[in-house]
Amino acid sequence: MDKKYFIAGNWKMNGTLASLSEIIKIDKACAQLDSDLVLCLPATIINAASEKITSNKLVIGAQDCHPKDTGAFTGDISAMMLKNVGAKMIIVGHSERRMSCGETSLLVKEKATSIINTGLPAIICVGETEEQKLSGETEKVVCSQLKNSLPNMSNDENTIIAYEPVWAIGTGKVPSLDEINHVHETLRNLLREVKGASISKTIRILYGGSVKPDNAKEIFSLDDVDGALVGGASLKADDFINIAKQAQI
Ligand code: PGA
Repeated sequence: MDKKYFIAGNWKMNGTLASLSEIIKIDKACAQLDSDLVLCLPATIINAASEKITSNKLVIGAQDCHPKDTGAFTGDISAMMLKNVGAKMIIVGHSERRMSCGETSLLVKEKATSIINTGLPAIICVGETEEQKLSGETEKVVCSQLKNSLPNMSNDENTIIAYEPVWAIGTGKVPSLDEINHVHETLRNLLREVKGASISKTIRILYGGSVKPDNAKEIFSLDDVDGALVGGASLKADDFINIAKQAQI
């Protein structure tokens, strides 16, 4: 198998210092795996988790950042500050932020630009709602989100794309394998247009939305899927590791 899979856990607003034991368990199990593995944690435990991990396989990431480095932005945290406490990459544009915080693709692009300027890779999320899917707008929506969220400086090393249908997140519903591969192919075709053939072939496109140990293998078998962004199932070491193991087989 020549693909190196990328498995990212997104802990969302879950986890306290008491969760370090679960993170240590994940870290130990990761030592046996070949994939790129990351846990995107709440900002409050990034530092402690970064200091505890020892496997050299697992890295710690963050889930959002402010587009500026410093300034009068009460309550916000910048990419530079997250890097300073141990974050090695940062998610931006998750649908939970696009929808409940009203984040536009332009803002996502500014955040991703700031992450890349800080020297970290950005994981940029796109995905359609159930209504958009039912009205046949999936391709239009995800292409518009990607085009408008992607920094000019993005390439296959500093950017990872995650396709996460909103209706599949935390619901147990998953698109058919054909649907997943079709959307990934569509995103890759768009990347070819905007970034050129070479970058579009190697830039990683993850699938996210109800990825579990029992469906990961078939999702990873798809040509245009390079890994997964895992929410709920990344909170438990056994589930996260079982998903990551499906990428080995
Ligand atoms: P889920 O979440 O795996 O719990 O569906 C995925 C995500 O929101 O990244």
